[in-house]
Amino acid sequence: MNITELLSNNPVVPLVQADDPAIAVKTSRALAAGGLKVAEVVFRTDRALECLQAVADEVPEMIAGAGTVLSAEQANAALDHGAQFIVSPGLDDGVVGVAKERGVPVYPGTMTPSEVQHAFNLGLDTVKFFPASIAGGIPALKALASVFRTMKFMPTGGVSPGNLADFLAIPAVLACGGSWLTPADKIAAGDYDAITQLAAEAVAIAKRARGLDK
Ligand code: 3PG
Repeated sequence: MNITELLSNNPVVPLVQADDPAIAVKTSRALAAGGLKVAEVVFRTDRALECLQAVADEVPEMIAGAGTVLSAEQANAALDHGAQFIVSPGLDDGVVGVAKERGVPVYPGTMTPSEVQHAFNLGLDTVKFFPASIAGGIPALKALASVFRTMKFMPTGGVSPGNLADFLAIPAVLACGGSWLTPADKIAAGDYDAITQLAAEAVAIAKRARGLDK
């Protein structure tokens, strides 16, 4: 499957952060019920690998990638536990190398022209733009896109229902990621319907912004 193409038609990537595989599975199912197809299971808890494997095994309707991957070792572990793509907060040659060697997409975080240029020279055609709102938001992204004509960006960090359409309207934006779709308080309360609702709202915004609702 071509993940980049899938993202272009399903341009919202929720973060799934859990320290219990059962919760990761319920969260992913709730997101999928709202129409989202791709999620990033983040390596921010001790049981992230188990969570990733559980989502990969038990939620076939969701394409699971690994997020917050910081090292080549973590990238290998993620790919051994069902990840179909890798996302990093920063740009690390080791992480990119593992993804290339194993033939999966990698979206490393960048926020400066030098980092985007480095990614370009590593042969990447898509990077995360992180933390998008602090790194200058839409004006900064447009400035980067005007120089790196072929590069696609995945803004993450500060994306919300209020600015999602504006980010997605930029032609160089492949997709947007974020944690607003999986609020910790809703998960703690077991309110998975709220997560489905947030996902459905994001899907509707994305379809309108991309003209996919016609
Ligand atoms: C990420 O890892 O992509 C960010 O933490 C997401 O940022 P957000 O919490 O502002 O959506």
